Amino acid sequence: MNKLIITNWKMELDYQESINLAKQYKKYIKRSIVVCPSFISIHKLIDIFRGSKIKVGSQDSSMNIRGAYTGEVSALDLSNIGVKYSIIGHSERRLYYGETNKIINKKIKVSLDNNIIPIVCFGESREVRNKKQTRQYLRRELRIALKDVIIKNNKQLIIAYEPLWAIGKRAIDSREANNIQLFIKQEARKMLHRDLNILYGGSIRQNNALDFLSQDNIDGLLIGGASLNIKEFSKICQF
Ligand code: PGA
Repeated sequence: MNKLIITNWKMELDYQESINLAKQYKKYIKRSIVVCPSFISIHKLIDIFRGSKIKVGSQDSSMNIRGAYTGEVSALDLSNIGVKYSIIGHSERRLYYGETNKIINKKIKVSLDNNIIPIVCFGESREVRNKKQTRQYLRRELRIALKDVIIKNNKQLIIAYEPLWAIGKRAIDSREANNIQLFIKQEARKMLHRDLNILYGGSIRQNNALDFLSQDNIDGLLIGGASLNIKEFSKICQF
């Protein structure tokens, strides 16, 4: 299957471990994928993956381009060293670092302006799900995060649907994800006037990946934990 596969290594690996895993990826994975390692490994991994189908993304980037912003990393600098994608608004950044949809909106615009494809994450909490308010919640989130975003012809924006309660725990039912992703696709189309690729993320493993990849409105996967294990991940990449 030719759907998108994007990995999120989070802060799980040290520098040497990232290099070791990247070398294994290069040896065993023959399809195109995007790897998002921690910032310190990005440059080295671009080197390692040269000549392969594997592209490198970042797990975040700044809403500013240049200036006195301690600790931030600019999308312009990422782009200049060969980064093609950035995860924006991952739920862990929203939860632990106070990222709001307004910040995410700026990051999306800055990424697009600097030739980076943003992979923008959205997902409801268990509380919202239990109240059966998932769709209203997602609509509101999308409206703020995508406000006045313009995607010019040669640019792309990807959305990742990642229910908070499913990340690192237990995946949602794939048909339910498919229905919610159809809803996200329709809402995004209303706002951006184009069809986006919508990924699913949250506890994808070797034993459920094919099921998710077979759904019409799931255009690919964003994979955390299972991407750290080369045996499991290379099996997923064969689907
Ligand atoms: P997981 O993480 O695959 O480990 O659930 C996915 C993510 O947080 O992007």
